[in-house]
Amino acid sequence: MTPTIVAIDGPAGSGKSTVTRILAERLGWQLLDTGSVYRALTWYCQQQGIDLTDAEAVLAATPAFLQVWELSLTPGERWVRVDGIDVTDAIRATEISNQVSHVAGIMPVRAAINQRFREILHGATAAGIVTEGRDMTTVVVPDATVRILLTADESVRIQRRQAERGNDNPEAVARSVALRDAKDGRVTNFTEAAPGVDVIDSTHMDLAAVTDAVLEIIAERTGNG
Ligand code: DC
Repeated sequence: MTPTIVAIDGPAGSGKSTVTRILAERLGWQLLDTGSVYRALTWYCQQQGIDLTDAEAVLAATPAFLQVWELSLTPGERWVRVDGIDVTDAIRATEISNQVSHVAGIMPVRAAINQRFREILHGATAAGIVTEGRDMTTVVVPDATVRILLTADESVRIQRRQAERGNDNPEAVARSVALRDAKDGRVTNFTEAAPGVDVIDSTHMDLAAVTDAVLEIIAERTGNG
């Protein structure tokens, strides 16, 4: 049976990671967090001593990385491994967040990774799979059953990130969100929805309301509404 693919794009702090995890858990579906792959590749290049600003070198390392990269698709069991090493926590370090845009900005690297994403999504073994990223609805799986752009005003996204970080150094968090928006926005347009993509603006919504809104769209699009 063909799996139902739900693709959610949005900027940092829009709430997409939390919402996709809740949805996948609730529906008993699989989950593909695509940002974690760019993070793991950044970690891998750093370990190999590869200069992240050298696009040719990062591209040359990508096939070897894809051979040793493993990701759990089970929402309750989140882990990422590279060559058998658990990097689940290491790839969330600020150092990686600050460097990942170099890697994610290399178009041929994206093409290779996107191909792997398509294989994973179309080959899902559950009834459905939820995925989140920046260009999933537009470039990777424009054929997904459900395509959503989850947005929120920058000030709200900064507040959410600050709350997550326990409010230590709020100015640094604000700067890092703004900087990442600017860098990511050079590669993918995640502020405007492509035709056929549903927009949810979560600025004034809590997590439960966003989850319900997505579930409603899934029900409509799959004919179970
Ligand atoms: O969602 P995240 O913060 O884990 O993403 C990490 C980085 O990867 C972020 O800077 C944007 C980039 N990214 C991307 O370019 N395309 C995706 N599909 C997912 C993430």
